[in-house]
Amino acid sequence: MGSPFFSAEEQRVFDAKLSEILAHYPADRKSAAMLPALRLLQEMKGWLSPDGMRLVAKALEVPPERAYEVATFYVMFHTHKPGKHVVDVCTNLSCSLRGAEDLLAYLEAKLGLRAGTSNEKWTLRETECLASCGTAPCLQVDEVHHEGLTRGRVDALFDKLS
Ligand code: FES
Repeated sequence: MGSPFFSAEEQRVFDAKLSEILAHYPADRKSAAMLPALRLLQEMKGWLSPDGMRLVAKALEVPPERAYEVATFYVMFHTHKPGKHVVDVCTNLSCSLRGAEDLLAYLEAKLGLRAGTSNEKWTLRETECLASCGTAPCLQVDEVHHEGLTRGRVDALFDKLS
């Protein structure tokens, strides 16, 4: 049966996939499955709403705050509804030395929003090192990596998505 949060089909899929995840953990350590369980929820719903985090916490038999703590610690989790495309721009040292701030400002102007905000189409965020320091500056769009960026490469990439 569905819930106010999931349709009946979504609930069936969530339960089945969560069971697969939990099979990898000791029965008395369900809370250790928090990361994959939140990941599953985000894959299904696109983000982690308060109701969704409560549902995961209940399934893992932990207080809701535990799901919230984990979800807000990791940048890959969205605790607010994101735009259609999520753009993460690295502004750590190597990227910064190779013009990341200029690239970020260029993107803000191009996409029409400030870093740390979203609209229906885009979520634009600054992020920590993406482990591509040797080919800085870099960013990810929907978790796909792009490196060695210039304004021209940014134009080519984002004009395809627009
Ligand atoms: S500093 Fe940007 S990838 Fe490492």
